[in-house]
Amino acid sequence: MVEPILSVRDLRTQFFGPEGVVRAVDGVDFDVFEGRTLGVVGESGCGKSVTARSILRIVDRPGRVVGGSVMLRKADGSTVDLAGLTEEGMRDIRGPEIALVFQEPMASFSQHYTIGNQIMEGVRLHMGLDKHAARKRAIELLDMVGVPQPSRRIDEYPFQLSGGLRQRVMIAMALACDPRVLIADEPTTALDVTTQAQILDLLRQLQTERGLAIILITHDMGVIAEMAHDVSVMYLGRAVETGSVSDIFDRPQHPYTTALLRSIPTVMAKPRTRLPTIVGSIPHPFDRPAGCAFNPRCADMIAGVCDSAEPPPTNTGARQVRCFLHGGRP
Ligand SMILES: Nc1ncnc2c1ncn2[C@@H]1O[C@H](COP(=O)(O)OP(=O)(O)O)[C@@H](O)[C@H]1O
Ligand SMILES: [Mg+2]
Repeated sequence: MVEPILSVRDLRTQFFGPEGVVRAVDGVDFDVFEGRTLGVVGESGCGKSVTARSILRIVDRPGRVVGGSVMLRKADGSTVDLAGLTEEGMRDIRGPEIALVFQEPMASFSQHYTIGNQIMEGVRLHMGLDKHAARKRAIELLDMVGVPQPSRRIDEYPFQLSGGLRQRVMIAMALACDPRVLIADEPTTALDVTTQAQILDLLRQLQTERGLAIILITHDMGVIAEMAHDVSVMYLGRAVETGSVSDIFDRPQHPYTTALLRSIPTVMAKPRTRLPTIVGSIPHPFDRPAGCAFNPRCADMIAGVCDSAEPPPTNTGARQVRCFLHGGRP
């Protein structure tokens, strides 16, 4: 049995605002394996980005990770619970072990420094290279992610690059310290379809070459179908169904997964036909419904059951689902 490189259990993160507590991440479990991609999918606001930030413990105030474990298997085979590390300990994890490609490339760059300076900063900090060696390494990284003429481009500023090139540079920065886990948060959402395909190709190629474990965050089941080996479907801060992509796409169990799958445009569908949408809207985090959070939008809701108790996680084989239709009935 292959051991996961990263194992997240019952991760919980809350925002303590003046109006109350938002349970942004409220029990997330998943495993990530070397050389494989775990897709994390769900509608906007379901807690995908906060999950990524919670793993790396870079949650913005007034947010705080309040529970759960994040077990990382290091290169020497030992495991460490990131939740128990100090801020100093986490600094050795961010970059060399787990790197993050942020959702907004423009917001993640400084506009006042060249891309070369920004890549070199990370390289020098973590790898102790001198200026000359760091510049050489930065050019190598740009070349590796497919930036043309890297020795010229290195002296340009972020605003001089196209969206696709900016995203390539973001990926180069993430790979600067040779991480074993890469978290990519909606890496292609801001890009046109052609550029999106090129960036996804690049991620696949880097995974094959380096055995990277990738956590790919997206709201798009089509991207999951194309890229992911495993998938974790999130709804209102919770992983409601997790397992292999082939298994879950074949036989989805959670009604929310089924609904998301129906939203993928098929090859057969006429372009521009309206996508079937899921009835209702996502509840506001303050108005979390009693019982299963999806019950007000669920066609298969069992009155008196789904609206009164929270479905516990049920495991069959490698799949975990939180739904009373599939076990755990009170
Ligand atoms: N800085 C913050 N302050 C308060 N609430 C936040 C903050 N960041 C995120 N949240 C809340 O956490 C929830 C999950 O957000 P997020 O992880 O960004 O969603 P996703 O990435 O899935 O679109 C949302 O309800 C959002 O309002
Ligand atoms: Mg997000």
